Amino acid sequence: MSKVYAFHIFDRPDTQKLIDRPAPQPGPGELAVNVRAAGVNPVDWKIRSGALGTDLALPAPMGQEVAGVITAVGAGVEEFTVGQEILGPVVPGYGGFAEDTLVAAVDAVVKPEEISFTDAATIPVAAAAAYDVTHQIELDPGQVLLIVGAGGGVGLMAAQIGRVHKFTVLGVASEAKRQVVEATGATFIPSGDAVAGRVRHLAPDGVDLIVDLVGGQALREVAGLVTDPSHLISAVDPATAAELGGVGLERTPEAMAKITDVIKYGLVDPQVTSRYPLDRAGEALAVVEDGHTTGKIVIDMTAA
Ligand SMILES: NC(=O)c1ccc[n+]([C@@H]2O[C@H](COP(=O)([O-])OP(=O)(O)OC[C@H]3O[C@@H](n4cnc5c(N)ncnc54)[C@H](OP(=O)(O)O)[C@@H]3O)[C@@H](O)[C@H]2O)c1
Repeated sequence: MSKVYAFHIFDRPDTQKLIDRPAPQPGPGELAVNVRAAGVNPVDWKIRSGALGTDLALPAPMGQEVAGVITAVGAGVEEFTVGQEILGPVVPGYGGFAEDTLVAAVDAVVKPEEISFTDAATIPVAAAAAYDVTHQIELDPGQVLLIVGAGGGVGLMAAQIGRVHKFTVLGVASEAKRQVVEATGATFIPSGDAVAGRVRHLAPDGVDLIVDLVGGQALREVAGLVTDPSHLISAVDPATAAELGGVGLERTPEAMAKITDVIKYGLVDPQVTSRYPLDRAGEALAVVEDGHTTGKIVIDMTAA
């Protein structure tokens, strides 16, 4: 048997627990993966809340992004072999907070040996989103990128990508995150009341792109600072972005491989700030659900 962390009732975190299941067997085009690490993301609790739909079979395994070792390949898979180290999003319904799971071969990327399993596990969802959000609308070096929610998993990586491209990056986050945001090369701007005035003080002519990772009022407060309203991308609140003239995040299939290379060469650090063992997945999820995470939280099979 193989362990997986699952919820049993929508909107009931108290029904999350480790359960046993037979190790998943790969179907055509799929890889069975022995999980070494899994990234924890806001989408995990959003799925459990039922806000993204309630047609999942229960108990529903949790966790969307993993890095691990291939233990079996399904029919038709020719580009991967047993024993290879890979990273990827899990096949829907199988869960990443697990000893074993499935990844579609078409979605998998070989894990470079330069990248640890822990860092690799942040790539399929968070790092790939950071890549997409900074490439969907291209800026030129020196142009001003404002990131709202700069201290979280996606934000810290988006800020580093901005530095690689030589954008002028302004990062809005709570005071507790000043140091980590500044370490990316971004200029830190404290969130909270009158944040728009603080941004305006630093960018009197406005900003060239807003990347929103918070949504709602935090987005509305700064939206007027962007010189072209269509240069506003929200990864979390596409409805408010559209109302303000902006757009939602568009995910691209190439992002995972591209950001894997960038991380491999040490240009972006996924900023894993906490590692939890599988049997403490609930604690890791609760920290992310609280909404004030610094960097990435990862379930690490080697963590104590
Ligand atoms: N569409 C997609 O494919 C996709 C992919 C990845 C992520 N996302 C979404 O993008 C969002 C961010 O993801 P994440 O993984 O970075 O989340 P995260 O790690 O939980 O970080 C969120 C950050 O927002 C900050 N924050 C909260 N309120 C704020 C405010 N008013 N102003 C500035 N910062 C504020 C939080 O800390 P402080 O309050 O302490 O600053 C925290 O650091 C989530 O909603 C996630 O679901 C979407």
